[in-house]
Amino acid sequence: MSGETHDVLIAEPSTEDGSELWRIARDSHTLDLNSSYAYLLWCRDFADTSAVAVVEGRPVGFVIGFVRPSEPDTVVVWQIAVDGDQRGKGLAGRLLDHLLDRLAPRGVRHLETTITADNAASIALFGALARRRGALMRRADLFAADHFPDDHAAEDLYRIGPFEPAAQPVGV
Ligand SMILES: CC(C)(COP(=O)(O)OP(=O)(O)OC[C@H]1O[C@@H](n2cnc3c(N)ncnc32)[C@H](O)[C@@H]1OP(=O)(O)O)[C@@H](O)C(=O)NCCC(=O)NCCS
Repeated sequence: MSGETHDVLIAEPSTEDGSELWRIARDSHTLDLNSSYAYLLWCRDFADTSAVAVVEGRPVGFVIGFVRPSEPDTVVVWQIAVDGDQRGKGLAGRLLDHLLDRLAPRGVRHLETTITADNAASIALFGALARRRGALMRRADLFAADHFPDDHAAEDLYRIGPFEPAAQPVGV
């Protein structure tokens, strides 16, 4: 554990964060790196289903997702990453908790993501989320390697839920 800790601000991203999301994805050396345009567009149009973690004014982690058009109670986490020097401090878990808490009032009670079989950190991250929230996590085949036109490993589907519904405000 690093002896030095800094406050972490977790919030919706803005267009100004798009280039840093691209950088974090690039530096992860694990995620598929999308075009810089894709991250800018995501920060503009899907900010409400995404989050950025900021330490000392600098984005150090993000999660980008969307609510499935055909399944409005399900948020799909497309990508999540934390800078190498910030890992192991619970930041990715906090990004997911923030997103689920923000989306619960909209009726989101499930999370889906895809993970390659070799990504132990990611499987551990989502497994920990399921345990923390007392929810089930199920794995299923989704995109096999031969679905991809390039040299890409199979992406397994993980579905977690149901999560507790949002608490009703007192007096409602
Ligand atoms: C996956 C990733 C986002 C995790 O970020 P992080 O901030 O270090 O994760 P957290 O500290 O919140 O850890 C969450 C849980 O995962 C576990 N975990 C995290 N990294 C792990 C690792 N390398 N090996 C095993 N478990 C790990 C933690 O122990 C914790 O579980 P716990 O609550 O039971 O202790 C980060 O490793 C990363 O950016 N990887 C590269 C990008 C990537 O692979 N993204 C996922 C693509 S699907």
